[in-house]
Amino acid sequence: MRVLIIGSGGREHAIAWKISKSPLLTKLFCAPGNPGTLAVSENLMIDIEDFESIKKVVIDNSIQMVVVGPEDPLVNGLRDFFESDSQLKEVIFIGPGSCGARLEGSKDFAKAFMQRWGIPTAKYKSFDSSSVNDADRFLESLRAPYVLKADGLAAGKGVLIIDNLREAKSELREILSGKFGKAGDKVVIEEFLQGIELSVFVLTDGENYLILPEAKDYKRICDGDKGLNTGGMGAVSPVPFADKLFMTRVEERVIKPTVEGLKRECPDYKGFVFIGLMNCGGSPYVIEYNVRMGDPETEAVMPRIKSDLLSHLIALGKGELDKEKIEIYNHTALTLVMVSGGYPQEYQKGYEITGIESFKGETLFHSGTADKEGKVVTNGGRVMALTVTESDIIRGRERLYNLIELIDFKDKYFRRDIGLDLI
Ligand code: AMP
Ligand code: GLY
Repeated sequence: MRVLIIGSGGREHAIAWKISKSPLLTKLFCAPGNPGTLAVSENLMIDIEDFESIKKVVIDNSIQMVVVGPEDPLVNGLRDFFESDSQLKEVIFIGPGSCGARLEGSKDFAKAFMQRWGIPTAKYKSFDSSSVNDADRFLESLRAPYVLKADGLAAGKGVLIIDNLREAKSELREILSGKFGKAGDKVVIEEFLQGIELSVFVLTDGENYLILPEAKDYKRICDGDKGLNTGGMGAVSPVPFADKLFMTRVEERVIKPTVEGLKRECPDYKGFVFIGLMNCGGSPYVIEYNVRMGDPETEAVMPRIKSDLLSHLIALGKGELDKEKIEIYNHTALTLVMVSGGYPQEYQKGYEITGIESFKGETLFHSGTADKEGKVVTNGGRVMALTVTESDIIRGRERLYNLIELIDFKDKYFRRDIGLDLI
């Protein structure tokens, strides 16, 4: 199988690393990839928002399967583009069409979907600029803190959690007047859920599903989960509180009705479903859906999958996921993200990264890196994600924080508490 992975982050590097181990693989490509994916694939330098250039590389390189990393091409209809093109429609495409991608592309759609299918989630209502007064009444009926969500994609910045009612009303008006652009034409206001978060990942062919290892993400920039929100600073898998009983509840109350709902509303949903959950006293509540894998969760999830991911993806393409069995290692994977000093606000790029050679490309995943005259340099906020696998979190942390010292670049920053809350 000749496979193309679309995207350029640590998530895509981790998927590429896993697929590259498959005996079913003939050749792997990443578009555009990064200096890390070069170790396991050929990088194709194209703009992934330009569907015609994706078509060209797929045809030129006889690609048989496309795996989409980020959400934007999916929300913008890349799968529909493939299906409606006579030269592309036979290509196995891992990712939903624009119908299914609304689960991530519209929070209002996702909430209504959960309501239609009886999936537990926070109580909510949606409002637009014509219903601001109703929104005020709804806010007054809730208790602080107040959760406001821009309906559309807002680069991970569209969720606000606000302690004070007056401020919530004022933020609501700012979102509706364009603070997040068109993404904020509609706002979901919902009840605040108290609990611990985790991410659950499902691979579905629209009928059958496999549950991938779950993970916990560390979202804030500072230790103790303080400070600004980021794309994710680290991850741990498995999540100790996601025991058998809890995961059975997740499967029965969330995964089954989600797959059933998709089957009825958006047939042929083929791809990943990322379910952001809150564990509220043992009961799972859905916070959000994404129609792709998480980053950096993927960097912890992939090293835990023992079975052949490519075999699962081929079966998914044929609608035969029921014939596949996922095997998972018992070990604990810990992922730590090294970021550029200043991130998630302003930061510098272009600093040389040293020490990479000590890892021989194993589970040191590149996120925001670039090649500059033969040297690997920083090229983003999140620069690299290092994953270790060990028998438990204590041993994993010890090894992780020893190994991280081998990598260096100017203004390197990382959290020191990954996994600490789970011991
Ligand atoms: P999102 O951008 O949808 O991932 O949301 C960002 C973060 O906001 C989530 O990871 C949660 O930590 C938090 N969050 C979202 N909705 C709620 C809610 N209803 N109750 C409590 N926290 C929430
Ligand atoms: N780590 C969260 C996400 O990928 O959305």
